[in-house]
Parts: sequence; structure tokens; C-alpha cells
Amino acid sequence: AETHYHQFVVQQTPITRLCRTRNRITVNGQFPGPALEVRNGDSLVIRVINSAQYNITMHWHGIRQLRNPWADGPEYVTQCPIQPGGTYTYRFTIIDQEGTLWWHAHSRWLRATVYGALIIYPRLGSPYPFPTPKREFPILLGEWWDRNPMDVLRQAQFTGGPPNVSDAYTINGQPGDLYRCSSRETVRIPVDTKETILLRIINSALNQELFFAIANHQMTVVAIDALYTRPLTTRVIMIGPGQTTDVLLTADQTPARYYLAARAYQTAMNAAFDNTTTTAILEYKDASCKKGQPAPRPILPQLPAFNDTATATAFTTALRSPSRVNVPTNIDVSLFFTVGLGLNNCPRPNSPRCQGPNGTRFTASMNNVSFIFPRRTSLMQAYYQGIPGVFTTDFPPVPPVQFNYTGNVPRGLWQPSTGTKLYKLRYGSSVQLVLQDTSIVSTEDHPMHLHGYHFYVVGSGFGNFNPQTDPARFNLVDPPQRNTVGTPPGGWVAIRFIADNPGIWLMHCHLDAHLVLGLAMAFLVENGAGQLQSVVAPPVDLPRC
Ligand code: C2O
Repeated sequence: AETHYHQFVVQQTPITRLCRTRNRITVNGQFPGPALEVRNGDSLVIRVINSAQYNITMHWHGIRQLRNPWADGPEYVTQCPIQPGGTYTYRFTIIDQEGTLWWHAHSRWLRATVYGALIIYPRLGSPYPFPTPKREFPILLGEWWDRNPMDVLRQAQFTGGPPNVSDAYTINGQPGDLYRCSSRETVRIPVDTKETILLRIINSALNQELFFAIANHQMTVVAIDALYTRPLTTRVIMIGPGQTTDVLLTADQTPARYYLAARAYQTAMNAAFDNTTTTAILEYKDASCKKGQPAPRPILPQLPAFNDTATATAFTTALRSPSRVNVPTNIDVSLFFTVGLGLNNCPRPNSPRCQGPNGTRFTASMNNVSFIFPRRTSLMQAYYQGIPGVFTTDFPPVPPVQFNYTGNVPRGLWQPSTGTKLYKLRYGSSVQLVLQDTSIVSTEDHPMHLHGYHFYVVGSGFGNFNPQTDPARFNLVDPPQRNTVGTPPGGWVAIRFIADNPGIWLMHCHLDAHLVLGLAMAFLVENGAGQLQSVVAPPVDLPRC
């Protein structure tokens, strides 16, 4: 195994998109940021130097960080932010993981431009569980804002209303042909006729789930979230922020040019549906091109409508592990968390600070607790040093009141409480967690990400979860594993995992518009003995708040 050393300089960089040049935060001046390529078993040492004007942290999304929570990165959870002029070195080893992950800033909305691929190849000499592709291409789906995303966030937090939507979707940072001033830089993927390539698709968009398809071509899904799947052939995939999907693509069509395209699935917080489409071009190298004639326009794929929940659900529920897997069956801890939006009443409904529906302010919660991030120190530091008053461990295992979650929810239940509440799990316990969307304000799909773990997705459905009948239909044989799972709009999803990684692990909606409203909670996983210092000591250069 190898150790890879990298330096990430966080800096302001001029970037030109949609005819305008804007200063944005990048790593090493690159947008998207540098791709990290390692093998299973390798170690990474990444020195982050903050030369920008904002506090920042980095997160290695999907890396389990076994007994190594100090390298996980969410701000005020496992560390204080790296302040301007500061540095912090993330050190971690890849333990039995391979496939496509990614890294991103985990401070407010900085990940809008601070993200990159994290590709883990199998150990030297061990093959993929599918025919080795001739070539591989990362496809990072994203969003571009003409305004500084940090200002968009600040405005939304001031007004209490929905944040402005982005101005373009992007593939590898480029909006593509169908947006103004973007044609020349459209990403091109060259292929030889008949060859098979691997696309490592990552949804790094801030607030948008996406449909993705390639004109005239089928894709074969072979992995999600760096976990292999049974090969699944499909014309379209749905991918939520935080998720990755590896697909094999065989160039088996008439040599020509074809668009790869992505556009919105669902809209966050009643935002206007944005039907714009980002594209890249699949170019057969032997497509005959008559001299002096412009190449014909590539063919666009059919993409489902933004509200086509049926297509999204058909895709996600068809995913399977490659073979029988060890799903925990004796459940020690059974949890039921509502996830959803809410509205806070305003003392003066007409004020500029109450621009949510009917003079309210948007909020979001899990089990009616809107998560407040501490500011004085991080949760992990408070835990390790025994600092009282930073968090409590009374996160409710079930909603404080039961109601018809996806029905007509009484107005009195729309305003959540607030707190920094953790849920304590005994080391080694087997956990079942049902995530239930609510129809408070509106039903929405919430891509829920659990740090420090991946989990089995054993079931999902629409309406209210029924504890009497739904578990009988769980797939306990070959369910897929993921680190980020969509809670269907107006529905529920059930996951299982073993709490085998001590530390404090954030679970949150990966739509950053919802995360900043408090759609988060954290698990505190103690070690077997349950003593206070159940985790390794923090690195000496861990930033202070
Ligand atoms: Cu991809 Cu908490 O993040």
C-alpha cells in the first residue's frame, strides 16, 4: 500500500461561466477540484491551507474513517473550521472500500465550488468484478450560481424564504452546449466504436437531485456509493446529491455524436422548476466528418419530467447487492425519524425577515428537532474533553407526537423545537432506522447521508410507514448498500447497519438548502466499555474555534 501526499490550497479564483467572470473559492485554482486517485489499502495525507477569506473544512464523503473521526471534517461536528491563514492535515487510510467517492467542503455553502472526485481502485492485482473497461471518466454533476453562493445563502437566511436556484447545471464544472457562452468548453468524451468505458457519475450539486441519460445508449450500473451492485441495465439514472453511480457504457451505436445530459428531478422548497439541461458530448472517434462541413448537432436523450417519481423510484428500487449479503436481523435499536421542512411563526409577519410562506420563516427538522450546530467548539472536541453544555444525548428515537405524517398536518405541528441533540448508540448494536418524509409545507425527496457508515437499504414506500405490514416486505437477502439514500417524497425508507465505528457521526439531508435549516442530527457511538474517551486522541494540529 502507498501513502499519497497532497496539498490543497483553498483560494479565491476567477472563473468564467455563462459569459461572466466571477471570483469563487477553489482548491489549487481548479474547478472542479483535483481528483484523488488511490487504491484500496492506501493512505492519504492532505494538507489543507486556507488562503481564502472564509472558514472552511473538508469532508471525504463516503470514507468510513473507522475509529478516525477527527479526519471526517463536518464543521463544528468533528472539528472547528480552518480559519483564514490556518492549516489542517487530514490523514486517513482506505479500509476495504473501492469505487467512486468524492470530497467536498463541509462549511455552509462552500461546496458549491469546492469539490472533486475521490477514486479508489482495487488493490494492485485484483480486478474489478466486471470486464475491465478500456477507459474511465469521472462525471461530476453540479450547479453554477452567477451570484456568490455564500451571498445566496446569506440572503436566504436573512429573509427566511427559499434560496434562489442556481443558474446552470454542470458536468465537470461546465454547463455545456445548451447554455449561453458555454459551447466551446462543453466536456467531450471520445470513444472508439464497440469499446466499453466506465463513467464514474457523482452528484455534487448543492440542492438538486438529477436525472441522467445518454442519447440512444443504455448504461449498466455496476456500483453506487463505492459499493458494487448487481449489473443493472437502464436508460436513465436518478442520482441525489452525495450519491455516486458507476456505469459501463458500450459504444454500440452508429458512429456519431450523442449528448450525455442531466436535468432536475424534484424541486426544493417549492422553487420554480428549472428545466434547463446540462450536457457533455459522447464522440465516436470514427464518426465520418465531411471536410469543411460543420459536425451535425448531437442527439439529445429523452429525460423524464421533473416530477416523474415513478421513473426515479423504479430505478432506485431495482438496485441490488451483487449477491446475498449479511443484513442484521436481530435488531437492538429500532428508530423512526421524521425528516421534513417546517415553518417558524414570525412576531411581525410582514417584516423583510419573514419571507417564507404566509409571512413565516422556513425551517427543517428530524423528529421535530431542528439541529443547531455548536459554535464554541466541535461536538467531538466537547465529547473528548468532557466540555459540558455543548450537546445533549436526548434525541428522540421516535417522533414526540404521532400524526398522519403524509396527510393534512395540523398547523400546530409545523414549528419544530431546536437543539443540539445526539442519539447514543452502544458499540456493536444493530440498528434499524426508518426515515419518514412529512407533508409539512410540502413533500420532498431528502437524500439522507450518514457519516462514518454505509448501510443496507432494506425497504421503501409511499405514504406512512406501517410497522405492522411493511417490515414483512423488507429485502433482507440482497439489498443495496449506500451512504446516502433518498427518502421518497411523501414516503419512507428503511435502513439497517451495525454501530461498529465509534465517534460522533452527522446524519443530514444532502440538499444544503435543507441542511442549513437544521435537517440533521448526529449519532454518538461509544466503544464497548462505554468510557468517556472511547476514541483516539485528536491530532495536534486540530483547529481551535
Ligand atoms: Cu457529503 Cu455531510 O456530506
